[in-house]
Amino acid sequence: MGQRRIAILISGRGSNFVAIHEAIGRGDLDAEICCVISDRADAGGLERAREFGLEAVCLPARGIEREEYDRLLGRTLAPFDPALVCLAGFMRIVTPILLDAYPGRILNIHPSLLPSFPGLHAQRQALEYGVKVSGCTVHLADAGIDTGPILMQRAVEVRDGDTEETLSARILAEEHQVYWRAIALMLDRLAVSR
Ligand code: GRF
Repeated sequence: MGQRRIAILISGRGSNFVAIHEAIGRGDLDAEICCVISDRADAGGLERAREFGLEAVCLPARGIEREEYDRLLGRTLAPFDPALVCLAGFMRIVTPILLDAYPGRILNIHPSLLPSFPGLHAQRQALEYGVKVSGCTVHLADAGIDTGPILMQRAVEVRDGDTEETLSARILAEEHQVYWRAIALMLDRLAVSR
């Protein structure tokens, strides 16, 4: 296992990926991004990865059944030998095929304080429920939707007059602070257990 190599899986703009890349650049996170994989060719984050000179791979998922896609993902990831696989806005549920290939080593970030508001539109769900505090969660992935052991969370106050956009933006700022810290924690844990 590449000791501090991390793979990042995205589907969209990739701002969490960029925040992780920046944390590495600043020297805050001792890790190496070995590849960025997207299931969508139009993911803005793929372009950023190319600009940064990283391995950027597009693995379209259309028409491919879930397990088969995860087998493909596993084969794509294997040569990069990542210690961790970090889901960062990757809009797919991972199956046991991938989970078993990287046991306890797949992380996900979600824009709510789990177990509240899993699934899509977490910030909208929080607003509609009327909670006064929401936030973000980094957790180990399992076969559920946004379930799995929690590694770190950050709380964000919901303000009067917040819209989905304003709340999402404040939560995202915290996501960018918490994901690389959770990655550092996991890489350190793996180093200790070796
Ligand atoms: C983030 O809000 C993340 O929590 C969720 O999807 C969004 C991805 O944003 N899983 P980005 O692609 O990292 O900018």
